Amino acid sequence: MYEFKGMTALITGASSGMGAEYARELATQGSNLILVARRLDRLQDLATELNSRFGVSVTCLDRDLSVTGAGRSLVAELHSQGTVVDVLINNAGFGTSGSVAEQDPDAVVNELNVNVVTVTELTTGLLPGMLKRDRGVIINMASLAAFQARANHALYSATKAYVLSFTEALWAETISTNVRVTAVCPGPIATEFFSVAGTTPPGKPMDVAVPIKAALAAIDARKPFVIVAKPGMRIASKLIRMLPARIALRMGK
Ligand SMILES: NC(=O)c1ccc[n+]([C@@H]2O[C@H](COP(=O)([O-])OP(=O)(O)OC[C@H]3O[C@@H](n4cnc5c(N)ncnc54)[C@H](OP(=O)(O)O)[C@@H]3O)[C@@H](O)[C@H]2O)c1
Repeated sequence: MYEFKGMTALITGASSGMGAEYARELATQGSNLILVARRLDRLQDLATELNSRFGVSVTCLDRDLSVTGAGRSLVAELHSQGTVVDVLINNAGFGTSGSVAEQDPDAVVNELNVNVVTVTELTTGLLPGMLKRDRGVIINMASLAAFQARANHALYSATKAYVLSFTEALWAETISTNVRVTAVCPGPIATEFFSVAGTTPPGKPMDVAVPIKAALAAIDARKPFVIVAKPGMRIASKLIRMLPARIALRMGK
């Protein structure tokens, strides 16, 4: 398996769910961590646990990634401190629902900033250093939603389609280097995601450890993306792209 020991990993959205699980898994493998989210108390509790159990260094940064330019500011801060980031996990994200017509303009900007702009700024800001050192890993959290536009979830599906497309192109740009890139496309996972979104998961969510193991296996195998879902949903997400749009879009309602 790919060797994460001794690397420094920046994980956004590490205060809960999959971000916290990435932190646990990489600490187990001997990575030092930079954890980013708004809830500093949660990051600090996790840092204390991981530092005492695995002896890795953990830095906690309370940053609101919905603020315009948050990704660029974070990159500038890291560069000014001389901090080298070997592994970038763009995990922070959230979903909203409701028709396009009823969206709150501020909420729209926040969702685009966290799910799209910050992901892009962190990637473009940290990638050149990885390429220069010819070593690095970028994992971007997309979703099964990337494969199907859904009425009343237009923004979320569109942001995740962006993450998948952006990451696939980046994979192609970096495949002849030692920088490894993948997008992770999970179906429903048991985290705080659904309570934050104010929705309920379709069916029983998978355990949070499953997508993290799949993501690290995808990095090992140099896959451009990995779908993490039960077989029915995985097949449906591929078939949906072959259907006429009028039919596929009605099925997503
Ligand atoms: N759970 C699922 O079923 C599922 C499926 C497919 C894809 N995903 C994607 O997987 C990723 C992780 O989600 P999760 O399921 O682990 O959800 P989660 O438990 O709700 O975690 C989301 C994380 O994002 C952080 N975050 C949200 N807004 C932020 C902001 N403005 N600034 C900084 N951090 C922010 C949260 O931290 P704070 O609130 O402390 O800031 C939290 O740590 C997301 O990108 C999500 O879209 C989830």
